[in-house]
Amino acid sequence: MSLNTTDLEAVRAGARERLGHTTTVEAVEELRQHLLGRSGELTTLLKGLGSAAPEERPELGRLANEVRTEVEDAIGERLAALRDAALDDRLEAEALDMSAPGRPMPVGHLHPVMTLMRDLREIFHAYGFEVFEGPEIETEEYNFELLNIPADHPARDLWDTLYVAEPGTAGTDQGRPAEDGTILRTHTSPTQIRAMRALEPPIRVLTPGRCFRYEAVDASHGFEFFQVEGLVVDRDTSLADLKGLLEEVARALYGRDVETRFRPGYYPFTEPSVAFDIGCLVCGGEGCAACGRSGWMTILGAGMVHPTVLRAGGYDPDEFQGYAFGMGPDRMTMLRHGIGDIRLFFSADRRFLDQFPDGR
Ligand code: PHE
Repeated sequence: MSLNTTDLEAVRAGARERLGHTTTVEAVEELRQHLLGRSGELTTLLKGLGSAAPEERPELGRLANEVRTEVEDAIGERLAALRDAALDDRLEAEALDMSAPGRPMPVGHLHPVMTLMRDLREIFHAYGFEVFEGPEIETEEYNFELLNIPADHPARDLWDTLYVAEPGTAGTDQGRPAEDGTILRTHTSPTQIRAMRALEPPIRVLTPGRCFRYEAVDASHGFEFFQVEGLVVDRDTSLADLKGLLEEVARALYGRDVETRFRPGYYPFTEPSVAFDIGCLVCGGEGCAACGRSGWMTILGAGMVHPTVLRAGGYDPDEFQGYAFGMGPDRMTMLRHGIGDIRLFFSADRRFLDQFPDGR
C-alpha cells in the first residue's frame, strides 16, 4: 500500500482522539504499541514511503515525520499527565492534616468502687488517718481467734469462710483445710491486730482491701468484695469521737443533708457494737425496695475495741481505748450511683464501667 496524506492525517486525528479517552498508563502503552509498535498502524504506513512517487516523497516524508513526532509527543504528554494525576490521588489519600484535632487515646479510668475508696482515703486523711494494709491470705488466728472469736464461737457463722487446702489435698475428696489455718480473710478486721502490733500509739489507720466469703452470689452478695477498716487506739478515745467522725464522713461522701443514725449491733471484737445507717438515698427515707421499706441503709459496722482485742494487740485496756469500724465500699458505691446489682462490679462489662468515665 502506498503512503498518502489522507491516511497520515487520519492516523494523526485518530491518535489524538483515542489518547483523549485513555484513563490509565497501561491503556496508553497499549495504544503506543498499536500505533508505533513493530506492526503498528503508523509503522506500517511509514514502510510504504519507499513506494511513493519520487516527486511526492520529500513532502510525504516531512509530513510522516511530523505525524510520528507529534504522536510520540502526545503519548509522552498523556503518560506524564496520567502519572501526575495518580500521584495527586495518592498524595490526597495520604494527606496529613496537621491542623486536625488528635484522636483521643483510650486510657481507661478507675473502677467506681476504687474511686469511692480513694475518696474515703482523702476524707479520712483530713482526720489524720494513714493507710495500713494487711494480707488477703490470712490465718484463722488473725481473722478470728485474736479478734475474740474462738473456734467454737457461734459468731463464726457470720463469716462463711473460704479455706486454703492442705497442700496436695485441693480438689480431692479428701481435700481438707490447711493445718496452719490458712484462709482467705473474711473481713479486714485482722489488720486491727497487725496494726496494733506494728505501730506505736496513737494509732489512726485505714485499711482498704479485698475480702472473701463462701457466699451464694446474688444482687447484694458477692463471694469477693471490698472493705475499708478503720482503727483508732489512744489513751482518751470514746464512742462520741467515733460518732462525730462517722457523721462527718457520711456528710463528706453523700452531702450535708444526709440523715444518719446509730443502732445497737453485735461483733465479738467490739463492745459496745453499733451499726451505722444513712437515710435511704433512693427514696429519701420513705421506704422502698432498695432499703427494704425501712428508709435506712446500713453502710458500716463499728464499736469500741474489745479489751480482749486490745490485749491481743499488746495494749493494756486500762490505759488505752480504741474504736474500729468496717465499711462496705461496694455497698456505698451502689448507694452513691443508685446501682441495683453488686455483680456488675465484677462483671468487667465495659457497657457498665464506661458510665463512670472519671470513676464517678
Ligand atoms: N469486720 C466486721 C464485718 O466484716 C465489720 C466491723 C469492723 C465491725 C470493725 C466492727 C468493727 O462485718
